Amino acid sequence: MQTISGRSVAGRSACTARVANRARKVCVTRAAATVEKHEEKAVGASWQFTQPAGKGLGFYTGAEDGYLYCDQMRVEDIRHKVPESPFYLYSWNRIAHNYAEYKKALAGLDSLPCYAVKANNNFVIMKQLAAAGAGAVLVSGNELKLATKAGFDPKRTILNGNGKLPWELELAAEMGVNINIDSEFDLENIAAAARKTGKKVSVLLRINPDVDPQVHSYVSTGLASSKFGIRNSHIKWFLDEIRKEPLLELVGVHSHLGSTITKVNIFRDAAVIMCDFVKMIRAEGFQLKYLNIGGGLGIDYSHQGQVLPTPTDLIDTVRDIVKELGLTLVIEPGRSMVATGSALVNTVTGVKTNGSKNFIVIDGSMATLIRPSLYGAYQHIELTKPHSTPVQTFDVVGPICESGDYLGKDRELATPSKGDGIVVHDAGAYCMSMASNYNLKMKPAEYMVENGSLRKIRHEETLEQHLAVFEGL
Ligand SMILES: Cc1ncc(COP(=O)(O)O)c(C=O)c1O
Repeated sequence: MQTISGRSVAGRSACTARVANRARKVCVTRAAATVEKHEEKAVGASWQFTQPAGKGLGFYTGAEDGYLYCDQMRVEDIRHKVPESPFYLYSWNRIAHNYAEYKKALAGLDSLPCYAVKANNNFVIMKQLAAAGAGAVLVSGNELKLATKAGFDPKRTILNGNGKLPWELELAAEMGVNINIDSEFDLENIAAAARKTGKKVSVLLRINPDVDPQVHSYVSTGLASSKFGIRNSHIKWFLDEIRKEPLLELVGVHSHLGSTITKVNIFRDAAVIMCDFVKMIRAEGFQLKYLNIGGGLGIDYSHQGQVLPTPTDLIDTVRDIVKELGLTLVIEPGRSMVATGSALVNTVTGVKTNGSKNFIVIDGSMATLIRPSLYGAYQHIELTKPHSTPVQTFDVVGPICESGDYLGKDRELATPSKGDGIVVHDAGAYCMSMASNYNLKMKPAEYMVENGSLRKIRHEETLEQHLAVFEGL
């Protein structure tokens, strides 16, 4: 359980503690302007939560002043410029840095890095990642439509999912997207889409290597009992069916073990198993090209300086296997690309105490960011400026009419006042993309800091837009 979260300059000063704890690790990385520049700096980078004020990259505490920064800008200053609250705030340079780390890690291998759009489908972020050369992994026809509009090359995308619909498969076939086969009925539907469009379709078999990713059951996907992927015992049946269909070309195998994985040996174990499948399938006469190991690398949500595997650790653990079999390595990172590059910025509505519990009530909620309510996920919470008020233990909760509406439990924070800024960190993945209109909360605006300037990258939704879906009924 996290114990240091607030910023205080008196008493049990959380800010001072953080600065002292991390001063020895201060990183002097200055935000670079381009993906290429980040690439140079990405080698061996371990993330730092305290950096020189105004000179760091991503979200960090200013070592000299205790304010929270996004790249060169104080989040407190941004709050005063932005009319909406809550809002998502991104550091493009941090996201570019994360992508650059993957590119660097893949050096020397034939590879296809595909961004998992489900993590964050902000159109501006998608366009910028497409422009930086990423491929994409998609889980719906609408994601596919948006990805092509954003500039992703369909031939460098993969359509995934256990319940792909005929129209989605036809669109994918038409566009030349690679499609994962997930089940017997999915294969039938893909073959039907190929026949209907008259297009040759490149397919991958999604195989469950049955390796336990040791993560929350909601984000575990690669076990034999998972709803995803084919029955391994039927693999011969799948190969025979594919052979019968001249419009289908089997180009690879895919596995995705789960998300928030913190040990790379898990990827290694799965890759070894997948290689046996590759050899077996090749022995059946198929020319497999791709080994897709999915996404899943975790991040340090705790902000406790956990040493987690980097993209280089991940790729190096499977490098020899990929080389030995002459395969192209496909990876599908989502969380580790975008999560750390964002925070949800909220305003304190008030502070209250009931029984022995202290609450900070904020304007963000489970409608804006549902991971804590949905699967008890921990996301670090901080005030945006230094405080000299007492540090207390708080539950940080939203205004939604549900007791399960919380952003953080038992957080030690300096006591804030009404109107103060408070952020939920690492909110770039599976946060805005899972936001809802529950209690008729409108989905929030999104802003991005890019090379020192603030820009809006999504408008807040309005009640008028909500009412429009009932027009004329
Ligand atoms: C098939 C597939 N690929 C990639 C990802 C991205 O995973 P992560 O965001 O953990 O990297 C997911 C998400 O769970 C997925 O289902």
